[in-house]
Amino acid sequence: MSLIEVERLNKNYFTDGVPTGILRDVNLKVEENEFVAIMGPSGSGKSTLLHILGFLERKKIIEETVEMVGLERRLHYETSKLSGGEKQRVAMARALVNNPRMILADEPTGNLDSQSGGIVMDTLKQLNKKGHAVVLVTHESYTASYASRIIHLLDGQVEREELMARRIDEEKMFIK
Ligand SMILES: Nc1ncnc2c1ncn2[C@@H]1O[C@H](COP(=O)(O)OP(=O)(O)O)[C@@H](O)[C@H]1O
Ligand SMILES: [Mg+2]
Repeated sequence: MSLIEVERLNKNYFTDGVPTGILRDVNLKVEENEFVAIMGPSGSGKSTLLHILGFLERKKIIEETVEMVGLERRLHYETSKLSGGEKQRVAMARALVNNPRMILADEPTGNLDSQSGGIVMDTLKQLNKKGHAVVLVTHESYTASYASRIIHLLDGQVEREELMARRIDEEKMFIK
């Protein structure tokens, strides 16, 4: 059974009474324990879609938005002597605090250097291994390569889906 399923999802914003189609007939399923990436140009509707996924079926799904960018910054600011591994454990503890079945992450590596970005992605990978579904919004193909499926959005529509042959190796380095 799917963890979440949307069919023909439409979202409009109105400017002076004129609707602008932000999401148009989007169909999307996320399976239990899946790692999905949503890619697309700026303005294609990625964040809007992720927000809506976060609002659906609240009773059934415990949602958790991972604000790892903020967390990493804070860690760096307050305790610059924490090792990468310690930072990773703190980030994971935070993400797991509500034991979410689905983790929604909107560009979590966007402003990070490659080392911090690697820690964030390793954390998401570990959480996915532990049984959490992950929906990741990113415009970076090396970040999306952690997913088993990539959904490409264009102008609010699913342009195509890409199944990844295999997941990233345990040892593979995160290279920005
Ligand atoms: N509150 C809003 N009012 C009107 N337009 C919005 C609003 N939020 C987002 N948009 C528009 O919706 C489109 C999709 O935005 P968004 O989902 O943030 O895209 P992405 O995350 O892919 O960059 C953009 O054209 C953006 O300008
Ligand atoms: Mg966005």
